[in-house]
Amino acid sequence: MASLRLTINGRTQVVQAGPDTPLLWVLRDRLRLTGTKFGCGVGVCGACTVLQDGKPVRSCQVTAAAAQGKAIVTVEGLASEHAHLQQAWLEEDVAQCGYCQPAMLITAAGLLREHPAPTDQEIDKAFEGVICRCGTYGRIRKAVHRAAK
Ligand code: FES
Repeated sequence: MASLRLTINGRTQVVQAGPDTPLLWVLRDRLRLTGTKFGCGVGVCGACTVLQDGKPVRSCQVTAAAAQGKAIVTVEGLASEHAHLQQAWLEEDVAQCGYCQPAMLITAAGLLREHPAPTDQEIDKAFEGVICRCGTYGRIRKAVHRAAK
């Protein structure tokens, strides 16, 4: 165990964890930020996506130690700064089962930060690594365009 200093959703806190513990489990088990989901644990599904210094990363593939000094944002931290994004998601009725949607919202926030008015191709590329078994990609595309207006 080590004392790790993490900045999550704008708040810096000290967490006791093994340095090799994946950030995903620190978020979910230590900090109770359960919006970030576990899917595969091997970097394939994208369900665990969070923003690290503004860029989407897979939190199952980032160690807690490596996350120190980085600004981590989870879906819980999107509420204030990206309310328009969540509103667009509601207006386009994006979610079906909902399991992947925190990762989708985080991915959208990262995309819009880099491309404020993304093309369909940029949207499709951003989301290609985040798996939605319900196939909500068409509605996600519409919601991203709506949020970008
Ligand atoms: Fe991290 Fe699947 S749980 S990519």
